[in-house]
Amino acid sequence: MTQGGDKKILVLNGPNLNMLGMREPEIYGTGTLGDIEQKVIAHAEKLGYSIDFRQSNSEGELVTWIQQAGRGNRAIILNAGAYSHTSIAILDALKTTDLPVIEVHLSNIFAREPYRHHSYISPVAAGVICGFGDKSYILALDALNDILV
Ligand code: DQA
Repeated sequence: MTQGGDKKILVLNGPNLNMLGMREPEIYGTGTLGDIEQKVIAHAEKLGYSIDFRQSNSEGELVTWIQQAGRGNRAIILNAGAYSHTSIAILDALKTTDLPVIEVHLSNIFAREPYRHHSYISPVAAGVICGFGDKSYILALDALNDILV
């Protein structure tokens, strides 16, 4: 088992989230994905979890990571970005895992364009957290801490 595998959480970030800081700061803020990663790791440490934090612009890479998530992780926090609204492939991959999944979004997708109101991921997620900026990830960790025994 990988180091900390029994208390490890996989945090996956989808397309364009590598551009945080420069990308539409009025919606997503000025913090970078690296900033979020540091905050997530620090909060996870307090709860006794380790974090495997990843980002990809590729739908296929995200699918592969989800397929492999059962090897050493206890749960998945997933911000699939725009793929949330389009990807049946990511939905199908999530159906292959028994791990609890928390769907997160920085922005409140329900207060935005109608095409962002539907997520393929939500039906298989244990819960959905959106609209709290980088705090969405922290709230997801707290929720997982309650779910995971
Ligand atoms: C997002 C919301 C999505 O609609 C958008 O495509 C993103 C980011 C969010 O975190 O608010 O890329 O997932």
